[in-house]
Amino acid sequence: MKAEANMSNLFRIVCLSMIVSLTGCDSAEVVQSSESESSEFMNQPAELSRTEQQSSNSKDASSEEIFRQRLLPIFSSPNPSSCTECHLSSVALKDYIRPSAAETFSALVTQGLVNVDDPKNSKILTFIKRAPDNSSLVQKKVRQQEFDAFRDWILAAVADPNLVSTQPSKVRVGPKVSDEVIRHARMDRVLASFIDNVWTEVGRCAACHSPDQNHKQVAEHGEQVSWIKLNDPITSMKYMTDNDLIDVENPEKSLLLLKPTMQIEHGGGKKMVIGDRTYKQFRRFIDDYAAIIKSKYTSEDQLPKPSVEVSIVTDIWMKIENIPEQYDQQLMQVDIYQWTEDEWSEHRVATSDRLVFGKGKLWQHSLSLTAFRESERAKQLHQKSLSPGRYLAKVYVDQTDKLKKEPFASLNENDLITEIEFQTQWKRGYGRMTKISWSDR
Ligand code: HEC
Ligand code: HEC
Repeated sequence: MKAEANMSNLFRIVCLSMIVSLTGCDSAEVVQSSESESSEFMNQPAELSRTEQQSSNSKDASSEEIFRQRLLPIFSSPNPSSCTECHLSSVALKDYIRPSAAETFSALVTQGLVNVDDPKNSKILTFIKRAPDNSSLVQKKVRQQEFDAFRDWILAAVADPNLVSTQPSKVRVGPKVSDEVIRHARMDRVLASFIDNVWTEVGRCAACHSPDQNHKQVAEHGEQVSWIKLNDPITSMKYMTDNDLIDVENPEKSLLLLKPTMQIEHGGGKKMVIGDRTYKQFRRFIDDYAAIIKSKYTSEDQLPKPSVEVSIVTDIWMKIENIPEQYDQQLMQVDIYQWTEDEWSEHRVATSDRLVFGKGKLWQHSLSLTAFRESERAKQLHQKSLSPGRYLAKVYVDQTDKLKKEPFASLNENDLITEIEFQTQWKRGYGRMTKISWSDR
């Protein structure tokens, strides 16, 4: 798993804007940037990159020899191809190779991946050339070998009358899944989902897990508590997958879920409960990531639909006082609606959920701002502010613990306990939280 998930800092530059804007990382941009300034051999005509050694070898080598000596090893190698630097699954170079040269050549030509008239511009070579900006040294070397092998073989093969005369092939080479599945398993998409579902939530854990704030925890427990890498979602994601915070064999048993829900001992105590919003978002990413790495998706209809809502954790706090003790230790979800000229906003503008502290007759938590994914408002969320004014809190309580049993269920009108109207400035910080009272209903 480590090898497959071994992704480096690719797309960092391209996706950096995403961290701020929360919009997707445009694949067109990715391709453009990766083709414009990637590893040395890509900026030159392909044949310039050939080393002396290889060119003298291949001058005399027959296409059959090149195939046997340089393509078949790729076909039978257990190691991932360079494609995995961007495609977490679904795509492997060996899938483009068949056991015989004739079969391979005819399939590649039939599928338009080898261009007999302009072999150097064969599509398969374009695929292999694609490299992320900061490709690892190891992957650069692997890619160069793959490229040289395919190029030398294709050049020899198009000059081999035996191969050129073979019949069109019915055998299909390449990925066995649909283009949608290939796209879904692409690193830039996976990263966008990580940012959407996990990165926007880790603010909840930052006080003890972010290296700028957790000196005390590090001194006491060791460096591994710093699993948030400051301002760096890609490295954070890579750290989580490489260090088993995310468990692709048993997604729901991931440390990232077990610890904060106190299913196992956690130095920080209970920081979320099964079925709450953060838990759902973590699961959405982790389950999907595991399915991608385990190649569970074969068709588009199996892919998870993107959530209609996006959200971001803020340090705007809210407290509800005088809550009846009967709700002690039950999950309370508070959705906030804003008064807009003559009606309440159609969609909630913020939400938060946490267990009620019955003895203290209170519930308090930081708010997450919310918006429809494609809306104008979604682009403003990163400002993490709510304008002062008139608001409505709709309060839901999970009185039957249904979310514990079905983490992906949501609270609905049946769970609505009360609505409270209030005015507030929405000042930031724990010390300046908005306070409302159950008795103001
Ligand atoms: C730098 C990252 C990167 C690497 C490395 C990479 N790809 Fe891709 N690949 C992409 C992107 C981005 C797309 C989607 C954009 C596009 O289709 O042009 C894509 C799309 C594809 C598709 C979808 C269908 C198509 O015709 O575009 C296939 C198949 C594919 N790549 C195969 C491969 C193979 C095989 C390799 C390795 C030899 C590879 N890719 C390496 C980034 C990469
Ligand atoms: C008040 C401090 C605090 C907060 C807030 C906190 N944690 Fe922790 N967490 C700790 C401490 C201390 C440890 C180390 C001891 C342990 O492993 O339980 C830890 C350990 C962990 C570990 C194990 C890391 C490893 O590699 O061993 C995970 C995973 C984790 N926490 C997840 C979370 C998540 C997710 C959140 C936010 C939803 C969170 N924690 C919030 C204090 C906190």
